[in-house]
Amino acid sequence: MSTAHQRRSGLRRAGTRIRKVVAAVAVGAVTAGGLVAAAGTASAQTTLGDAAAAQGRYFGTAVAVDRLGEPDYTATLNREFNSITAENSWKWESLQPSPGYFDFSTADRIAEHARQQGMELRGHTLVWHSQLPSWVENIGSADELRAVMRNHITTVMEHYKGQVRSWDVVNEAFEDGSSGARRNSVFQRVLGDSWIEEAFYIAHEVDPDATLCYNDYNTDAWNTAKTQAVYNMVADFVSRGVPIDCVGFQAHFNSGNPVPENYHITLQNFADLGVEVQLTELDIAGSGASQAEQYAGVTLACLAVPQCTGITVWGVTDKYSWRAEDTPLLFDGNYNPKQAYYAVLETLGGSGGGGGGDGACTVTYEETERWGDRFNGRVTVRAGDEAISSWSTTVTVHPPQRISATWNGEASWDTSGNVMTMRSNSGLPAGGQTSFGFTVMANGNWTAPILGSCVAS
Ligand code: XIL
Repeated sequence: MSTAHQRRSGLRRAGTRIRKVVAAVAVGAVTAGGLVAAAGTASAQTTLGDAAAAQGRYFGTAVAVDRLGEPDYTATLNREFNSITAENSWKWESLQPSPGYFDFSTADRIAEHARQQGMELRGHTLVWHSQLPSWVENIGSADELRAVMRNHITTVMEHYKGQVRSWDVVNEAFEDGSSGARRNSVFQRVLGDSWIEEAFYIAHEVDPDATLCYNDYNTDAWNTAKTQAVYNMVADFVSRGVPIDCVGFQAHFNSGNPVPENYHITLQNFADLGVEVQLTELDIAGSGASQAEQYAGVTLACLAVPQCTGITVWGVTDKYSWRAEDTPLLFDGNYNPKQAYYAVLETLGGSGGGGGGDGACTVTYEETERWGDRFNGRVTVRAGDEAISSWSTTVTVHPPQRISATWNGEASWDTSGNVMTMRSNSGLPAGGQTSFGFTVMANGNWTAPILGSCVAS
């Protein structure tokens, strides 16, 4: 069989071990409110990607090409994640805006970044009713639409053949609500129900080694009509040998689609059909401890299912989220790790994190005050599981910014004057925290400073 199949078998074996570990910390408690984190160890991983890898999984994010020029964005991306999904640039309207005219120039920057950083790629998405150019929407002939769908899938998959671990072959083909019906897209209208399996057959022909996914949202709660409809389709595909390898759960959560109490049951039921499951676009509206507990619950649900091979969050920072007003991601607008970040990291068995250097302490930044010409920043220093007797970290400002005052630490500067090292010999107890502050003269640049690693002794 295909490499995808062999890879799935391997993951199943790895998953057996994971299941035991998770069982030891009470799988029964996977609920939105029931945070159960694996205990950190001395050698625990300090990034999401490394911690997930230690559990035999990937941890990815959606990436917007335009943001790659922002140093904090790229630093956070490169440090924390080991898989990338293009947020928009691999969609049909971007890749084939007019008939037969393919433009991979922007899309290739995503692939190039992944290659340089040794990250995996998720291909999103081949056939979808949205972000679809109007020339496709207007096709009325079945023969023509079938040929166009074949050409698009073939050209895009050939271009990235060997580089993409999983493809979202078909995205969002079902209606919301209680009908369980197929969505009324041009593909559905013109080709009828068979269009979905036709897409999978074409994709399998082009790249038999890729993991081929059906991807959708609002499919998290087991008993809803939409979840059941997708499940029945996948069960039917598997029983008839349609080449589907995986189901992607977008996992966009908010008050209208809350994290279900028994999310792992939904994931396991799908996995029991013989497919891999992946959380492909995770974001959870909210903040603070409540958001953190929900993120931990979702992470634990994936860990509880051996065939759940990875999690992708739908963006790096709240400020660029497609739902920015929901602050649904793991890093705030200044790239500070949020409580949700620590909850995910710890659930994956990691500790420290957030860019913290030796794991013995971590630092986070927030802007506390702003005037017409300057702002105050505060850095919170937290000790890990053990007491520390001193700590230091760096704060790098963006010229022509200048730091004009500091408090609660001993500051020194490099020769450029842009990098301040702050240290203190006042120790911290295990889990303890302190903070230092500074004033930045903006001189026209209001970008948040970049924090270095926290180093303790
Ligand atoms: C979203 C992007 O995040 C936005 O930037 C864009 O304007 C619309 O699409 N389901 C999907 C994703 O499969 O492709 C969508 O991404 C979010 C919902």
